[in-house]
Amino acid sequence: DLVRELRGLFDVEQRLARRLGLQRVIVVPGDADVDETAKKEIARATARFLKEVLREGQVLAVTGGTTLAEVARSLPEESVPLGITVIPGRGGLGEDVELQANTVAAEIARRLRANYRLLHVPDDLPDEAVNSVVSQPQVRELLALIRRADIVLHGVGTAEEMARRRRLGAADVEKLRRLGAVGEAFGYYFDRQGRPVYQTGTFGLRLEDLAGCGQVVIVGGGRSKAEAALAVISTRYQDVLITDEGAALRMLELL
Ligand code: BG6
Repeated sequence: DLVRELRGLFDVEQRLARRLGLQRVIVVPGDADVDETAKKEIARATARFLKEVLREGQVLAVTGGTTLAEVARSLPEESVPLGITVIPGRGGLGEDVELQANTVAAEIARRLRANYRLLHVPDDLPDEAVNSVVSQPQVRELLALIRRADIVLHGVGTAEEMARRRRLGAADVEKLRRLGAVGEAFGYYFDRQGRPVYQTGTFGLRLEDLAGCGQVVIVGGGRSKAEAALAVISTRYQDVLITDEGAALRMLELL
């Protein structure tokens, strides 16, 4: 906290919260684009935030990604169960298994001694198959749980990098560019105004579901993610932003 105060980060947090209409903004020192410790700091701040806000009986929905995987690793291994349920926000999204929401949810649950439920759905299922999976009682129950999550914790990426990571074909990449997609979160790609312009397959949390969830927390840092984060926050569904100095200062420049 001393470092944050000395570097004027409290002031940056307040300015960003005001400009973006967010309940709370947490900015850690550094820039994840150029130094890995900033990402670890973001993860530690997020772990602290979770421990502070989570209450017994609550449901926590999480996405995947390297930042969220780091958040999971930053949580202490509890000796007493926290009495919460951790669930993935969406299915596979075409990512490597270590980065999938399921994996992150399971690790967070292990550390917090929480209950967890996973969404095992292969990517790119034909529609009939999706319909039959969704009609399974266990899956319906999980989807209902996702829709009333008390806390949704999600990462943010640039449209470009996420398209590359998910191995989108050249035609889709071109489409994203044409539609002006700059940011990505939980499988949705957004333009600068926060309009969802493209969506990756699979199911789970839909954008409009966020309105019915409790606190929506966006986590990510590095100067290169500033524009993406602004795009996602322009949807006005987010309540809390946890980021680093690199992204925060760039966001203020762009606003
Ligand atoms: C994905 C999430 O798994 O990770 C997205 O579904 C997010 O919400 C992305 O944009 C961010 O990944 P990283 O590795 O930059 O934290």
